[in-house]
Amino acid sequence: MPRYTLVAIILHWIIAFDIILLVVLGVVMVQLPMSLETRFALFQLHKSIGITVLFLVLLRIAWRIFHPAPPLPARIPRAQRLAAHGMHYLLYALMFWIPLTGWLVLSVSSLKLPFRLYGIVDWPDLPVFGLLKRGHAAESAVAVLHVYGAWIIVAAVGLHVLAALRHQFVERDEVLQRMLPAWPVLKRTTDRPAVPEPDAAASIDPRCHREFGKPPSDGSAHAKRQ
Ligand code: HEM
Ligand code: HEM
Repeated sequence: MPRYTLVAIILHWIIAFDIILLVVLGVVMVQLPMSLETRFALFQLHKSIGITVLFLVLLRIAWRIFHPAPPLPARIPRAQRLAAHGMHYLLYALMFWIPLTGWLVLSVSSLKLPFRLYGIVDWPDLPVFGLLKRGHAAESAVAVLHVYGAWIIVAAVGLHVLAALRHQFVERDEVLQRMLPAWPVLKRTTDRPAVPEPDAAASIDPRCHREFGKPPSDGSAHAKRQ
């Protein structure tokens, strides 16, 4: 069964995990009551993981350009293929747009709080955009773009996951397994053909039953030979 490359699979799951974490972290750091120090620390963590996602997504897009996706099972209808491709384009666009607008919020923020990536590297403003006039109005406008982007990706990922689960448990095809590594432990259960092999018992020559002294249930084969 053709699968995504191991690099694409690893990047897919690391980025998926990070995005879910960032949405939770984003809501917690903005909405929940806490001390100023804790809020500041959570913002720094959110921004550091977010910038990491931006670079992982760039790496993933570059990898994807040179390593096309494995073909979908042939029986999937055209409309469903188009919907899947459309959803993937939307997810890639959002995975790029959300961290970029997050970085832009910092670059136009009037507060100009220092940001060090994981507390180690002084992180610069977004090139060119850092020269824009800082101010509360610009910051709020960009923050809205960032937060709306986050809610759109939550909805899009919800549909994406439902589609993956439908393939796995309703269609019972190999679409989800293409995004899982071919570990030997998974191989036994996941590399099963979508259409089961004909029942081996059904292909046993009825004469075997006579040798082992067990007549077939309807007794027809014995009747013919007697
Ligand atoms: C895929 C990556 C990211 C996701 C999914 C994400 C998600 C979120 C979410 C859900 C919120 C809270 C929304 C709310 O409840 O108001 C938020 C707020 C915020 N994020 Fe991100 N974020 C990402 C990347 C980044 C990056 C890279 C930065 C900056 C370098 C950043 C900076 C911020 C800031 C400053 C806020 C507060 C905005 C405000 O003023 O309300 N985010 N983010
Ligand atoms: C934040 C979370 C996620 C994001 C942003 C995301 C994004 C993506 C993208 C962009 C692709 C297209 C890959 C390509 O062709 O280059 C993809 C494929 C896939 N994803 Fe996700 N994903 C997420 C979570 C999940 C989860 C939780 C599941 C499983 C339940 C999943 C299952 C799959 C599968 C099976 C494929 C391959 C589908 C196909 O080739 O048509 N994804 N994902």
